[in-house]
Amino acid sequence: MAVIILSSKKLSYKWLRFPVTGIVELDQQHQELLDRMNTLRDYLTRGQAAPEEVQERLHALHTLFSNHFEEENQRMQAHDYPGFTTHFEAHQAFLNGPILHTITDPHGQEGYDLGALVEWEASHISRFDRPMAEFLLARGEKSV
Ligand SMILES: [Fe+2]
Ligand SMILES: [Fe+2]
Repeated sequence: MAVIILSSKKLSYKWLRFPVTGIVELDQQHQELLDRMNTLRDYLTRGQAAPEEVQERLHALHTLFSNHFEEENQRMQAHDYPGFTTHFEAHQAFLNGPILHTITDPHGQEGYDLGALVEWEASHISRFDRPMAEFLLARGEKSV
């Protein structure tokens, strides 16, 4: 068990307009991802998070993101989406990058930057998922 020390950084909230993409299966996944992030936030702010449990939740989120990206990648490829490569690379960079990992500061204090995760998801949806969905829907991808 570990006691949580809240970061001194300004706390902020973001919300996303739904439907995010208008493609129902993808938006169900976006909803699930956001629900998990909110649950993780609640768990962390409750104040008695176990480091192993945080790791497990981050691992589960990694799997969920990976499956979701796979679904988007397949849909983009199926419709020869011209932005496929950059979108695919953004997914890979996220999966292989530091965002779903805890961090340890120079004093050896472990923590997790949930803000970075939320920022990434909100910005990815605006920059990549929405333009992709616009293209796919115009190509006849079902919205419901
Ligand atoms: Fe997405
Ligand atoms: Fe995406």
